[in-house]
Amino acid sequence: MSERPTVVVSFAQSLDGRIATVSGDSRWISGSETLTLAHELRRDNDAILVGIGTVTRDDPELTCRLPGKRHRSPVRVVLDSRLRLPCQSRILRNAARHRTIVACLKGNTAEQRRRLEDRGATVLECRRDAHTGGVDLNDLLHRLYSLGIGSLFVEGGGRVITSFVRQRLLDRLVVVIAPLLIGTGTSAVGDIGTETLEQAIRLNPAAVRQLGRDLVWEMEFSPQS
Ligand SMILES: NC(=O)c1ccc[n+]([C@@H]2O[C@H](COP(=O)([O-])OP(=O)(O)OC[C@H]3O[C@@H](n4cnc5c(N)ncnc54)[C@H](OP(=O)(O)O)[C@@H]3O)[C@@H](O)[C@H]2O)c1
Repeated sequence: MSERPTVVVSFAQSLDGRIATVSGDSRWISGSETLTLAHELRRDNDAILVGIGTVTRDDPELTCRLPGKRHRSPVRVVLDSRLRLPCQSRILRNAARHRTIVACLKGNTAEQRRRLEDRGATVLECRRDAHTGGVDLNDLLHRLYSLGIGSLFVEGGGRVITSFVRQRLLDRLVVVIAPLLIGTGTSAVGDIGTETLEQAIRLNPAAVRQLGRDLVWEMEFSPQS
């Protein structure tokens, strides 16, 4: 495979494996101690990536906001095939101050591109992924790497995490497990083509620790299968 950034995927889930409720509510599944962990991952990586589903639901700013000294924020990357990113979203409102890349597919109009570019975002047209119909992640990662992005933090949501896991395009997984049950909702990881337990991805935890009431599992992603 072509050169790509190192990729860390992290999410906060309930005991029953949900990252959001059926209405999309995910703030906040984990406690304040683990929210700090998410900001540390933003500080420690060159870029942060989310899907347009997370932007439309949560309107995140995706900057690094840790107390004390001012930290550099990562480049923000949004997977958004059809350039739906709203003008009033926090990401677009401060795109002139924080570098922002919107990864889309071919077929959007020049006007759609200009709407985002005029606000300071960079639009990257990528190949289409045959499986999801969305942005081809290999193509995107290669392009990000050639733009100088050596490390990427993938923060969600479910569809995006699923795509990275399904294609084994990650090097590290950091999962926060909070002691609550959500029931029906958004799964942290959806269909990754696993039908038997033999095909399941088994990982070796590098560290497990408790932060407040939550457990944090850190794993190198070097699956046996
Ligand atoms: N607990 C947590 O840690 C956490 C973290 C983040 C988000 N969340 C929650 O997750 C939920 C959103 O998750 P979601 O699954 O609905 O949306 P998502 O994963 O944020 O975004 C999915 C969208 O991204 C676009 N996309 C483009 N290329 C893609 C590709 N290769 N693979 C996957 N997606 C691609 C697609 O839309 P287009 O076809 O239009 O491009 C797709 O529908 C929200 O409720 C949010 O609160 C939870």
